[in-house]
Amino acid sequence: MNVSSTERLYLYLEERDRVDPMLDCTRVFGNTNPVEIELGIGKGRYLIDAAQRQPSINYFGVEWAGKYLRIAHDRCLKRSLGNVRLIRADAREFVEFFVPAESVRAYHLYFPDPWPKKRHHKRRLFNDGFVTEVVRTLLPGGLLWLATDHDDYFQVMLEVLDRMHSLRETDLAWEGVRTNYEEKFLARGARINRSVLEKV
Ligand SMILES: C[S@@+](CC[C@H](N)C(=O)[O-])C[C@H]1O[C@@H](n2cnc3c(N)ncnc32)[C@H](O)[C@@H]1O
Repeated sequence: MNVSSTERLYLYLEERDRVDPMLDCTRVFGNTNPVEIELGIGKGRYLIDAAQRQPSINYFGVEWAGKYLRIAHDRCLKRSLGNVRLIRADAREFVEFFVPAESVRAYHLYFPDPWPKKRHHKRRLFNDGFVTEVVRTLLPGGLLWLATDHDDYFQVMLEVLDRMHSLRETDLAWEGVRTNYEEKFLARGARINRSVLEKV
């Protein structure tokens, strides 16, 4: 990735807003390779490793916090990653308003903020509305990769998934590096909950 590709993306986004709000991934990346999206990338450890391992896959990284996104952006520039685009956005809004139907090969959601206090549960990303948008935008056979250390939030995720009949659990093994938060949680002795769902 280089600065001009980011500038091109912004120009494209400006132009697109006047026409059709949905992303045209072929134009954004300049090719028709499959697209995967990581939501809440933090400093981008998973995304950058995946993009290096799989140069023929296009990756969008979505992150709300500007300070993390800048770190991830610098790391992408250092590695000249041409198959990554980073977006500062709310993950839910990005998926709902910008991602076209049946266009995504996989979503990655690792250690989303659990908002443990009951009065904050409504801030959690993972709910029926969010998963409905994930289903809408996944290609048939597309995957949703999930990980969290938070048992209570994981139960909520499983309950939501139980209601979504178009996603079924797979037995795919984890691939990729540990994320930053995963390292932190493992160091504290936490158990990591994982699930990989496939759109049927
Ligand atoms: C607990 S951290 C996990 C980061 C990374 N996935 C990892 O495993 O190291 C959660 C990340 O999601 C980001 N985040 C939280 N809510 C978000 C939202 N609605 N949209 C985009 N990013 C969000 C936070 O800024 C933070 O970087």
